[in-house]
Amino acid sequence: MAGEQIRLLVIEDVPQVASHIAALLNAQSQIKLLQVIASGDMALPAVAEYRPDVVIIDALLQGRVSGASVASGIRRANPEVTLISLTVPQNPVQEDSDRGIDAVLRMPFTGFDLTTLVRRVHEERGAQSARGRSLMIALFSPKGGVGRTTIAYNLAVTLAATHRVCLVDGSMQFSDLRGLLRVPADAPSIVNLPTDRIREADLAEVMWRDPSGIDILLGPPRVEMAEMVTPGDVEKTLSLLRKLYDFVILDTRASLSDDVLVFLDAADVILQVLSYDSMAIRGLAMAGETFRAIGYPATKLTTLMNRADALGGISRAEVEETLGHPIDHELPSEGLLVLAANNDGLPFVSVAPAAPITRAMRALASSFAARLGVQTPTAAGRR
Ligand SMILES: Nc1ncnc2c1ncn2[C@@H]1O[C@H](COP(=O)(O)OP(=O)(O)OP(=O)(O)O)[C@@H](O)[C@H]1O
Ligand SMILES: [Mg+2]
Repeated sequence: MAGEQIRLLVIEDVPQVASHIAALLNAQSQIKLLQVIASGDMALPAVAEYRPDVVIIDALLQGRVSGASVASGIRRANPEVTLISLTVPQNPVQEDSDRGIDAVLRMPFTGFDLTTLVRRVHEERGAQSARGRSLMIALFSPKGGVGRTTIAYNLAVTLAATHRVCLVDGSMQFSDLRGLLRVPADAPSIVNLPTDRIREADLAEVMWRDPSGIDILLGPPRVEMAEMVTPGDVEKTLSLLRKLYDFVILDTRASLSDDVLVFLDAADVILQVLSYDSMAIRGLAMAGETFRAIGYPATKLTTLMNRADALGGISRAEVEETLGHPIDHELPSEGLLVLAANNDGLPFVSVAPAAPITRAMRALASSFAARLGVQTPTAAGRR
C-alpha cells in the first residue's frame, strides 16, 4: 500500500558497505532499516525475528554460507519476502526469483538508486501484497456453540506449521480464548493497546504467546471492559496485524451486531460455521441475506459444516438449498477428543495428529494457504 514503510533487513559482512547503506537510508523515511546482519548463518533466524518485507543480501558474503545459498534458503522458508542481491560489476549476478534473486543492486549506488530499487521490486512482487500477502479469516455464526472458538484455535495452530499466524479473540465480553487456554487474569489484552497510534512494539507487548506457536490477541479480562474497545480501535489493530502476519484468524461472538461487523468487514474471508441444527441453519440463511444487502461478494463467504457426520435427520442437500450456496468444508464430530483437548487447553490437532478431524482441519488449512498463493501446510511444519 502506498505510504507504508518498507521493512528492510540487510545481510552484509563488510562494515563499510553496511554503514554506507545505513547512511543512505538515514535521510528518508519510506524504508525502515531493521537491522544489518553480518553473517549468512544468522540470516534465517533474523528474517523470522524481524519479519522484513525486503532483504538485501551481499552476493559475496565471506564465511561458511554463500550469499546465493542465503537467498535460496530465505526464498524457501519465507516465500513472501522480496530479495535483492547486492554485488559489484566484476561479479555479475542474474535475476532468478526461484533462487531468491528478485533484483540485483550493483555497486556503486546512490541513495536514490537504493530506495527506488527497493520500492520498485517490493511493489512489483507485492502487487497483490496488501491483500495477497496476508489473509484475514473471520469465523462467524449467528448461533452460539457451533464450534467457532475450537475451530479458530485449531485452524490457527495448523497454519502456524508453515506461516506466521495471529489469532484474535473477538468475543470482547466473555473472551472465549481466555477460557479455553486458561490464560492468567492479568494477561494483557486489546484494552491495553494505546487508543491513538498503535505501533508494532505496542502489539508485541500485549500478545499472548501460546505454547502452540501462535500469537493471540486476547479479549478483555472482565465483562464491563468490553465497552472500552471501540470499533475504531479494532480496525486500527487489525490493519496493523495484517502487516505482521500471514494469517489473522478472528474468532467472533454469535451475533451480527456492530462489534462483530467490524471484524467481518475487515476480513478477506468469512468462514461461516454451522452444524446440522435447524436453528443454526436458519440463522445462517438470514445472515446471508444481510451479507448480500451489505454488499459482501459471494467470494468473501465460505461455509463449514461442523460435526458433519451428525446429520440429525437433515440432509446436506436440504441445508445447501436453504442457504442458497454449497457447503465448502466439513469437520467430523469427535466429541471425546475435542472436549478433552479443549479442557486441557490444547489444540486437538496436536493431541491427535492422525485423527480424522485433524486431517479434515489440515485440508481446511491447505485451502486457505492456497488462497495466499504459497505452499500448503503439511503435517511436518517448521515449528
Ligand atoms: N467437531 C467437533 N466434535 C466434537 N465436539 C465439538 C466439535 N466442535 C466443537 N465441539 C464442542 O462444542 C462445544 C462448543 O464449541 P465452541 O466453544 O468452540 O463453540 P463456539 O461457537 O465458539 O461457542 P460460543 O457461542 O460459546 O462462542 C465445545 O464443547 C467443543 O468441545
Ligand atoms: Mg466461542
